[in-house]
Amino acid sequence: MKITIIGTGYVGLVTGACFAEVGHTVTCVDADPKKVALLQAGGIPIYEPGLDEVVRRNVAAGRLLFTQSTGEGVANSEVIFIAVPTPPQPDGSVDMSYIESVAREVAGHLTAYRIIVDKSTVPVKTGEKVTETIKRYRKTSVDFDVVSNPEFLREGFAVEDLMKPDRVVIGVSSQRPVAAMKEIYSPFNAPIIVTDTNSAELIKHAANSFLALKISYANALSVICEAAGANVQEVTRGMGLDNRIGTRFLQASLGFGGSCFPKDLSAFIHISEELGYDFQLLKEVQRINADQMARFVKKIQDNLWVLRDKRIGVLGLAFKQNTDDVRTSPAIDLCQRLLKEGAKLRVYDPEAMEKAKALLPASDTVEYVADMDAVTDGVDALAIATEWPQFTKLDLARARKSMRTPIIFDGRNLFDPAEMEKLGFIYKSIGR
Ligand code: UGA
Repeated sequence: MKITIIGTGYVGLVTGACFAEVGHTVTCVDADPKKVALLQAGGIPIYEPGLDEVVRRNVAAGRLLFTQSTGEGVANSEVIFIAVPTPPQPDGSVDMSYIESVAREVAGHLTAYRIIVDKSTVPVKTGEKVTETIKRYRKTSVDFDVVSNPEFLREGFAVEDLMKPDRVVIGVSSQRPVAAMKEIYSPFNAPIIVTDTNSAELIKHAANSFLALKISYANALSVICEAAGANVQEVTRGMGLDNRIGTRFLQASLGFGGSCFPKDLSAFIHISEELGYDFQLLKEVQRINADQMARFVKKIQDNLWVLRDKRIGVLGLAFKQNTDDVRTSPAIDLCQRLLKEGAKLRVYDPEAMEKAKALLPASDTVEYVADMDAVTDGVDALAIATEWPQFTKLDLARARKSMRTPIIFDGRNLFDPAEMEKLGFIYKSIGR
């Protein structure tokens, strides 16, 4: 199939690369000339495991093209995916201006039947709005269909998630685009759900909100476990082995972050309100998440007493493992709270330090160290904020000696509490 993707952010670029990988010819359009030049030269603007190889291989094979021209993209392919940002606004609603402007632009270039597919996360009824916009701005009465096809990839596992999706959701208002959409996805061997556009749009917000709810549930349990002297990992494992519950997304932590869950929860609450429903359950998910960070900081304060001029090592700045993304990162939030209390930080992240520099103050209060083990040198405590698997390889014997006082606050439960105590650490984790 010939496919165009408008927007080369996480979703657009990974989707384009994986479509090319299974043999489609993909034109990726981006308005940013620097990004297009970088991609044409084989560069990748984000850190995403495995993506660089897939992009390089398919650019070399001539199946993955980059351009700034929407006109070229619309002319090249029968199916046009929209994968532009839908950022949050201060009131929790979604800024739809990028989608609206792409819809207008695509409309202006339509000369023959096209399928316009929305891949960005959008409020329910966006498909209807995009359809109205295209009708209004097309130059002739050429036919088109608007399809909703939400994306479920996780950053850090994006290529894997795209190549082996659990399911593909296709929301349509007519049967005409169904065959082409099924053909695009047939190489991925995933169950395909064909439904109406509004339901497809809701599936995305409903799924992300439910996953966030699972994490908040585990985090609420962590509070009970701490009070009762139980272990949250044992409790969630015991629950999760029930197939109806599942073990995934039940890791208690210092809270979830990233560019999706916090934004999508706010958006879904806002959308529900507009539809006349007060989604209190999701407000509680947000509250538990905010509390979890506050409780983690309080734990540090309770143990170190005064934070002013204390040196604290921080492992992890990205919002999760396997990414350099620091948007709405709990780790950055933690650093900012500790700095506000007057602490001095030594920080390390395998991929996210450059991006973190834009969010943390450029002053002598934050020291970026080049190697993981050096983060503990001379510190009064260490905080673990991101679940990078390599952090479990921290040289603990060295850390024990190099720290001024051997106190570890583990916001990701990476170590065994009994072993840490045996090694001489005061070790505080989540819900254990
Ligand atoms: C999330 C969804 O998982 C994807 O399915 C969805 O496509 C994506 O949002 C999106 O809407 O674009 P992502 O934000 O990349 O993906 O990352 P997740 O792996 O879901 O993690 C989100 C946050 O939850 C991270 O801060 C992570 O550390 C935290 N988390 C995750 C926990 O604290 N505990 C868990 O058990 C799982």
